[in-house]
Amino acid sequence: MNREDFWLLKQNVIYFDNGATTLKPHCLSEATDQYYNEYSTNAHRGDYELSLKVDAMYENARKLVANFIHAKDPKQIIFTSGATDSLNKIIFGYYANTLKEGDHVLLTKSEHASNMLPWFELADQLHLKIDYIPLDENHQVTLENVKKAITENTKVISIAHITNVIGDVRPIKEITKYAHERGIDVLVDGAQSVAHIPIHVEQLDIDFLAFSAHKMYGPTGVGVLYGKEEKLKNIHPIIFGGGMNTSFNSDGIRVYHEIPSMLEAGTPNIAGVIGFGRVIEYLQGKMEMIHRHEVELKKYFIEQAKKIKELEIYNENTDSGIIAFNYKGIFAQDLAIYLDRYHICVRAGNHCAKVLKEEIYVKNTVRISFGLYNTKEEIDQLITVLKNPNMKAEII
Ligand code: ALA
Repeated sequence: MNREDFWLLKQNVIYFDNGATTLKPHCLSEATDQYYNEYSTNAHRGDYELSLKVDAMYENARKLVANFIHAKDPKQIIFTSGATDSLNKIIFGYYANTLKEGDHVLLTKSEHASNMLPWFELADQLHLKIDYIPLDENHQVTLENVKKAITENTKVISIAHITNVIGDVRPIKEITKYAHERGIDVLVDGAQSVAHIPIHVEQLDIDFLAFSAHKMYGPTGVGVLYGKEEKLKNIHPIIFGGGMNTSFNSDGIRVYHEIPSMLEAGTPNIAGVIGFGRVIEYLQGKMEMIHRHEVELKKYFIEQAKKIKELEIYNENTDSGIIAFNYKGIFAQDLAIYLDRYHICVRAGNHCAKVLKEEIYVKNTVRISFGLYNTKEEIDQLITVLKNPNMKAEII
């Protein structure tokens, strides 16, 4: 699917590490080159034509992102430096001011560090309690288990939409419905979902959503913080400076802009945001097809991988293009290094989900994560390598 748009693939690599970051279509560098070479002025600060063009392009990217995730209003899209930045801004800008001692926050043990560490910090500061939604036998979240984990003190459920190792798709719509009936917020880490399934924030009724551009074929250093308008209006900025204030004086009296500017202090990653807008146009209308394609690839891999008796797969039954496995007797990282001899890129280790081992009882796994350009032929090549009877001897 559209492989020719990804020039890196001409280097003959098999890229199965899309959960870490995706490759970039050529239209991204075209858009950023154009910005740097033809109109590289600042945004929201100039009164001359070049700068006004930057403003228009930057704000157009905001509209494109809003439209892509079905946000009501572009001002609900805050550009950040990535999902991690977005999550920190939500947790320390909003929940630090709305939660109080004794409140409970619900996570799961398969969350990424970016959706755990900020909460641990805030829990220490405010004396919150962190609880975990129990996972089922397939390491997935069910509404029943969410119900069991909720207490009268639960105030926030903060979970990934799709997790980065198990790849389970959480029933967000059911969870938000149940949570909202009890006055509980739902914060969604969309880092592994927005590039892989269609997202409709209104239908899912998400309070906050965080995601990164670089995991969705866009630039590094750009992320998105989406929130319901009334929530965003009550975020207190955690970064202050130019571009986010309307006035201040020597007595420290200051007035800040409204959203989105209030939460975008300093010169933003203008080239990245404009390039991201171009990539969103590239992805628009393809999301159903991308999801089907990636799930089909996963099914294809599993069918063949199951014939290799040394392979242990941890997440056969999830509805995304992520597969975590180990080869008996071979350390995950050694296998990844071995696969690189065949120009096959996978990720190995704990994948920043360092609490997951308490669920799956294994610390390191090899992870394949598919993207829109992967093919069954590439999987065949991986399987051929994994079937090599001499592999273990060659590694050890
Ligand atoms: N969070 C990224 C991953 O899962 C880096 O690989």
